[in-house]
Amino acid sequence: MKTLITSALPYANGPLHLGHLAGAYLPADIFARYQRLMGKELLWVCGSDEHGAAITLRAKKEGIDPREIIDKYHELNKKSFEELGISFDYYHRTSAQLHHETSQEFFLKLLEQGDQFEVKTTEQYYDPEANQFLADRYIKGTCPNCKSENAFGDQCENCGKDLSPTELINPTSTISGAKPELRETKHWFFRLDNHEAWLKEWVKTGKVDGQQLHNPRDWKKHVSGQCMSWLDGGLHPRSITRDLDWGIPVPVEGADGKVLYVWFDAPIGYISASKQWALENGTDWEEWWKGEDSRLVHFIGKDNIVFHCIVFPAMLKAHGDYNLPENVPANQFLNFEGDKFSKSRGWGIELHEYLEVFKDFENGKDAIRWALIRNLPENQDADFTWDGFTEYYDKDLADKLGNFFNRVTVLTHKYFDGEVPDSPQEEGAESLARTQVQGKVAEFVHAIGAHIDAYRFKDAATSFVELASFGNTYLQDAAPWSLYKADPNDPRIAETMFVSIQIAAALALTATPFIPFAAERLRSALNQGPATNGDWALALSGVTSGQPLLAAGHVLGQAGVLFPKIEDRKDDSRKAIIEGERAKMAAVLAAKEAAAPTTSASSQGSTREPFKPECTFEDFLKLDLRTATILTAAPVKKSNKLLHLTIELGTEQRSVVSGIAKHFAPEDIVGKHVCCVVNLAPRKMAGVLSEAMILMAEDGEGKLAFVSPPAGLGDGWMVR
Ligand code: MF3
Ligand code: ZN
Repeated sequence: MKTLITSALPYANGPLHLGHLAGAYLPADIFARYQRLMGKELLWVCGSDEHGAAITLRAKKEGIDPREIIDKYHELNKKSFEELGISFDYYHRTSAQLHHETSQEFFLKLLEQGDQFEVKTTEQYYDPEANQFLADRYIKGTCPNCKSENAFGDQCENCGKDLSPTELINPTSTISGAKPELRETKHWFFRLDNHEAWLKEWVKTGKVDGQQLHNPRDWKKHVSGQCMSWLDGGLHPRSITRDLDWGIPVPVEGADGKVLYVWFDAPIGYISASKQWALENGTDWEEWWKGEDSRLVHFIGKDNIVFHCIVFPAMLKAHGDYNLPENVPANQFLNFEGDKFSKSRGWGIELHEYLEVFKDFENGKDAIRWALIRNLPENQDADFTWDGFTEYYDKDLADKLGNFFNRVTVLTHKYFDGEVPDSPQEEGAESLARTQVQGKVAEFVHAIGAHIDAYRFKDAATSFVELASFGNTYLQDAAPWSLYKADPNDPRIAETMFVSIQIAAALALTATPFIPFAAERLRSALNQGPATNGDWALALSGVTSGQPLLAAGHVLGQAGVLFPKIEDRKDDSRKAIIEGERAKMAAVLAAKEAAAPTTSASSQGSTREPFKPECTFEDFLKLDLRTATILTAAPVKKSNKLLHLTIELGTEQRSVVSGIAKHFAPEDIVGKHVCCVVNLAPRKMAGVLSEAMILMAEDGEGKLAFVSPPAGLGDGWMVR
């Protein structure tokens, strides 16, 4: 089987940060590296997304050509990925001629069918001073939802709500500052509404036209949940052209000055990247996209779910001959030290910045990969901290992995001149302990791979660490040093070292997808070259049938201290680097405090509600409070306050009506972990049954926040 994987094409109008890396690239890299080691056929494409209003807007503001911007960031992002070991097979760009042609052909193919598009003349905002129609992003105004004054015509970045430009209060053009006026313009709309029925069936059951394409249980809950809330809200024709001078020209007569909407052409970028890759490698691309024995997987962040699970699949189906994605293992968001990454505020760290500041930090690339892997926002938002970064490095890589390698190589050199000792006992008389330990190793190697196959990268990393712990415990308990003291010829010494070396070899191999740079050093400590395609598959069948990974007689190299600990060293330059990063963030916080002294905690104090009168402990015990996850969220008809949610309680699912519509967009809260009261009498609100109540905290300004249990705690557990 062929596996085609894609990672969201990043916009080439700015640098990427750690959150992007953790979202769509690092998980895909682990997956890709593992599949290659398993000897599987895999193609991984990505590239720069170089159209869209944001790029034009920025170019206009800086008085430069958009080309300058995309060239700069295409190169910067490509290089950052390379340096961090992100092993794309091809990194293309959407400004390429081949991409323009591919997108135009795709458009024409849908147009030919007659019923995929409709052409509509609508009224849109026009800037009378700049003499042009305004793309949604070119219009700013007050958000009707949260009243932020900096909302864009397509979305409010403060509350996350999707908007259309006419919903903005007091709109202004961001190009000239003029008040825009409505004028007529013609556009092509993709009839998404015609695809609603099969999409629903596909997301719910994995079936299309009676054919089982995937198992819906393999999709993450927050992904199908978000899809279902879109689908339940109903699909509508979506405009796929824009009045802009930057982008791919609409290839029909009478469309002068119009280009394809960026979200129409960008996913087609996956196809053109595959074509370009095939061209350069003298091979075929269509098999990967259309073959019966090929599967497609999209790695993305949660903000891209609707495009990859609804719009692009509809485009592919409409085209007629493409495979649909088998899975879209989207990630949630990563925060940085407790807050959202923000370029304008200087909060967070960008990839190229990390690579520069940490260039002399020993194992710096593996260290950041590892810290992100251990804390991936797989099913809920996660938070990156420098404390966590240090801790994961010290506890996992230094204490467990590095320490084990050091001991195994040092002891083997001491007792056997570095040679893997011979099978300690006569044939047929292998000790039980040795067979058992090898069985365990086989289990670990299998489990790590199975987790990766199922997109559970955090679990895979946990299993990997457990294998290292297992090795340490085994060696510690067997204590060959004590045996050696009593009798240097004790055969158990050879057995212990033989088995420990097999564990080390399993670690050096399975480390590759996670920490590829360090993995090479681990392998060279064992005197092995870098792992190559198919090695994992060979090792797995070897260990499963009791074959050693490193045979007797093989001579090990030296490990030395592979991962010097960060915390241990008082005057370590690495500590100074991390402190430098902390100081930058402290300065950002100080600037924020100075700018907005009125929002400090003390000024809000006056608006806190007085405490309620005393109640008994028994009163409190009557409430049944539980942890839960929001599976779906949709507006309630004829109500602008209520959202209809479904929540997962571990043992059952329930319907909940919650008065939070003014505070949260439905698609943003799917996947949220919450606490709720589950034993209030059910009641109907706006005609919908509510069987639980979600706990919320409200601050002095009426802003709501979910009361969320910590990451990793499952659903249905009691809160007391
Ligand atoms: N550029 C988009 C973003 O950063 C992602 C595009 S993904 C693709 O959100 F499918 F359109 F390519
Ligand atoms: Zn808003």
